[in-house]
Amino acid sequence: MSHRSTVILGTGSYAPERVLTNAELAKMVDTSDEWIFTRSGIRERRIAAENEAASDMGVQAAQRALADAGLKASEIDLVVVATLTPDMPMPATACFIQHKLGVPPATACFDVSAACSGFLYALDTACAMVGSGRYHRALVIGTEKLSSIVDWKDRTTCVLFGDGAGAVVIGASNEPGQGLVGTKLGAFGESANLLWIPGGGSVAPTTAASLAAGDQFLKMKGREVFKFAVRGMEEAARDILEQHQLTADHISLVVPHQANLRIIESIAQYLALPLDRFFVNVERYGNTSAASIPIALDEARRAGRIKPGDLTLLVAFGAGLTFGSALVRW
Ligand code: ACO
Repeated sequence: MSHRSTVILGTGSYAPERVLTNAELAKMVDTSDEWIFTRSGIRERRIAAENEAASDMGVQAAQRALADAGLKASEIDLVVVATLTPDMPMPATACFIQHKLGVPPATACFDVSAACSGFLYALDTACAMVGSGRYHRALVIGTEKLSSIVDWKDRTTCVLFGDGAGAVVIGASNEPGQGLVGTKLGAFGESANLLWIPGGGSVAPTTAASLAAGDQFLKMKGREVFKFAVRGMEEAARDILEQHQLTADHISLVVPHQANLRIIESIAQYLALPLDRFFVNVERYGNTSAASIPIALDEARRAGRIKPGDLTLLVAFGAGLTFGSALVRW
């Protein structure tokens, strides 16, 4: 059981330089700026350079989070990375990031696989480990190169995703009620087939035939995922508020997973909160999966949208199908 509070000491984010606009996508597949924007709220997304891996982007975000926290890489003893686009299937991207950052060897390094909910799963894991007193300062990083697993010929998916990374530094505090107030995680595993990459794993190792069929690419039943996303995020938000005897009015800012503006609007309606109580940047980045919440959190802080004493609700859903929420007191 956790006996110490765990607090966010710093945040950082990184977006690759290359901007891919809806107008450019309309030259690649049969789509339009109007379709993409009205269905998803996305205007543009970032695309990593060819030689830029998930770990490289994660390192950039982590360096900014460390600088924000006023800490050095040598003071970290836990690195947890959330990603569905690891540098390689093995080893963990956390190990590449550890090496590139110069984090000492006596550090636990591993990846968490929960797709777009991955950052909240990683945050909960790291906070439990730091809260136990056995670890002291953790880097929790969400980093994605979704451009490497998107089928650029499939207009139903390629318009929705982008690349980027976000990170937070976690530490302990003796002040009760500070930092991570609570989390709620869950999954509807029976619906895993609505959003997956069918090839390349132990079920269907890569073959020439699987590559020709495009089984290495992300597949999604968008309409069904949309319904689940709304239900999963609503339940995750409602449950955590009830658990802590709070109402939506106590929340000064909601930082939701940035998949689709219409999904965010549904959650706002459900919680009876105005949309300006939500941080939204989906128009600039599209869906960056595990990176989306830490990027949004960092931008929200740097824009002055989060002040000391504020209560922030983080809420996500993703492949699995997973969902999660977290309450953070600043
Ligand atoms: N451009 C133009 N037309 C398109 C495009 C496109 N890019 N994509 C699909 N269409 C067409 C379809 O073919 C369909 O045509 P039809 O009616 O002739 O069959 C029509 O547009 C409507 O398609 P729908 O899929 O019904 O459109 P919908 O309004 O549901 O919007 C969308 C699609 C944006 C994908 C929506 O369903 C959605 O956002 N779903 C949730 C997806 C999501 O958030 N996924 C992230 C999961 S997170 C993770 O873990 C990776």
